[in-house]
Amino acid sequence: MTAIVPLPAPHKKNWRDWQHAQPPFQSPDPRFVLRLSSPEDFPEIYALVNSIFKINKSVAEYDWIYKNNPYGSALCHLVVEKASGNIVSTGARFPWPLARANQDMETIQWGDSATLPELQGQGLLSLRIKHTDSHPWYDQAITFGLPNQASRNADKKYNRPVSSQPAAFARKIVDWRSLLVRKGMPDYLAKLAAPVATFVNRPSRRKQGDLRVAPIYNFYQEHQTLSLDYSRSENFWCPHGAQWMNWRYFSHPSKKYLAHGVYDGDELQAFSVIRLDRDSAMLMELIAPNNHLSQILLDQVEYVAAESGAKSIDFYGGKNWRQWPALKQQGYFMRPSNLYPNVTSNHCPEALLPENWQLLPGDSDVF
Ligand SMILES: CC(C)(COP(=O)(O)OP(=O)(O)OC[C@H]1O[C@@H](n2cnc3c(N)ncnc32)[C@H](O)[C@@H]1OP(=O)(O)O)[C@@H](O)C(=O)NCCC(=O)NCCS
Repeated sequence: MTAIVPLPAPHKKNWRDWQHAQPPFQSPDPRFVLRLSSPEDFPEIYALVNSIFKINKSVAEYDWIYKNNPYGSALCHLVVEKASGNIVSTGARFPWPLARANQDMETIQWGDSATLPELQGQGLLSLRIKHTDSHPWYDQAITFGLPNQASRNADKKYNRPVSSQPAAFARKIVDWRSLLVRKGMPDYLAKLAAPVATFVNRPSRRKQGDLRVAPIYNFYQEHQTLSLDYSRSENFWCPHGAQWMNWRYFSHPSKKYLAHGVYDGDELQAFSVIRLDRDSAMLMELIAPNNHLSQILLDQVEYVAAESGAKSIDFYGGKNWRQWPALKQQGYFMRPSNLYPNVTSNHCPEALLPENWQLLPGDSDVF
């Protein structure tokens, strides 16, 4: 049996302590009670979030992030309606790995912020924010998330920090023919033009020499070591450990992620992870010590995406991510994005600056 690799940036606090440290703020609105969640609340929270977002996520999908995250269970701040006893507004906080250069940080990613439609606009989010702010744990914690427009408006309304800079976003076209048709070109012309566009955008052929590319089915110490060595940033970054990546990519109940390694003999040199989602793909990880290995992996990623029927490959990340030059060389082009990673912190003003962060697709619960 393989030993479990210890998590990088482990959290010192645990869920029981979080529950015992009840926030003192109470609802001034007599219709509602504010409280922290316990795992028994999760089924009701899942149903509420499904109904508000009009989605149909399965219990397994929710359990994946609420219960099975190796950094700990979700911590939800709830508004409960006194008359019915029902949860009517919820916001989750998922313990997440974070470091600032070599220093481990206590960090939470927030998500699934939702209020029952008939009670929206009555200040329930504001109650949750005050409840959250009064929790003794969060004074020293950093919280980040990827808010949608509604949340960004609410953040502005409540004078919370709001990022004005969208994340740097890049796309590589894999299927030119369907793109050209979508842009209005008749199919017979697109059929002729697509090979030309593919040729112009083709990456130069890379010599693999003795290197070989092979699929990865499980992450171990060797992946963790490589990941920490080559994704470390001097500022805020999320260290991806083997246990965490196994959970993040290989135990997701519905999303499909494929990982590949480049090997010299038996020795792992570099690896990548891609998410395949019907006709689109997203690059999640690109861990490589040099440009040559990055390009070999990007070729592989493109091959896998094309095979699966993806029309394009997307990526977003902090501007100081070290692999941007490799992506550009591979024909990825920059596009406008509506992704606004957002950070709150009471004790660390540098964390509020987006340029200090290296958040990547794997760091969001959304992708
Ligand atoms: C966003 C949401 C959680 C806010 O909860 P709430 O209890 O209604 O929030 P409050 O009453 O405290 O504040 C409402 C503010 O949120 C913003 N807001 C809420 N819904 C919005 C929407 N659909 N579009 C734009 N802004 C919106 C507005 O700034 C609003 O202020 P206003 O009423 O003065 O216009 C709630 O609207 C919701 O559940 N929306 C659907 C799910 C969702 O999109 N969640 C965000 C996930 S990132």
